[in-house]
Amino acid sequence: MSGLRRGFATYTVRVAQFQAAQADTVIAPSLLAADFARLAEAAAAVEGAVDWLHVDVMDNHFVPNLTLGPPIVKSLKAATGIPLDCHLMIEDPARWAVGYAELGAYNVTFHAEAADDPVALAKDLRTAGAKAGLAIDRDTAVEDYLDLLPEFDTLLIMTIKAGFGGQQFIPAMLDKVRTARAHASGGHLELRIEVDGGIADDTIAAAAEAGADAFVAGTAVYGADDPADAARRLRARADAARSPH
Ligand code: DX5
Ligand code: ZN
Repeated sequence: MSGLRRGFATYTVRVAQFQAAQADTVIAPSLLAADFARLAEAAAAVEGAVDWLHVDVMDNHFVPNLTLGPPIVKSLKAATGIPLDCHLMIEDPARWAVGYAELGAYNVTFHAEAADDPVALAKDLRTAGAKAGLAIDRDTAVEDYLDLLPEFDTLLIMTIKAGFGGQQFIPAMLDKVRTARAHASGGHLELRIEVDGGIADDTIAAAAEAGADAFVAGTAVYGADDPADAARRLRARADAARSPH
């Protein structure tokens, strides 16, 4: 093996080891804080600076708010190459969630509180080609769901009460992040832990230190004059907090 090739092989192994230890930070701006008449422009505004686009689907039943559904996700899929992270705050996810996977969503997250058989639905989502995500709202304990985590790619921990953007981050929710991350590490699970609600310049480091590696930010990105710059700043803060001290 030439020196160059050996060097590359070593480098590849090192990268693999690093990835096994810690997945890359995911920044997911929430379109909930964007102009709903200009969603394609909102997506374009963060292209290259973010990893996922977070799409909040609300049905006016599971949460009081009402947002968007499959036709708009279909249009978004055609309008942007950024992977779509669909967060379903809806009743009866068994009826609707797979449809989002079939539209090409990268990750489909449904709420534990709304699902009768979360494991069966996770399997259906994976079969349909999406990552499967489980979300727990502010008043739901994570302990009841730890045994289910091997069936999921993503665990979304609400750091507010689900339903509306622009609320204040609740630091006590990070105990759930710590519990889930310890459980995932102990079981060698490849699990994204996503935090959603009130994530901003002054809160993202604490969430990252607790073990989150995916960060939803609505107001902090789309409320900024330069959304891409705001997303880059969030990533820098999360990366700094996640790197071993
Ligand atoms: C609220 C949504 C969030 C919301 C977060 O239920 O799930 O994704 O957009 O908004 P901010 O970042 O403004 O708290
Ligand atoms: Zn959300």
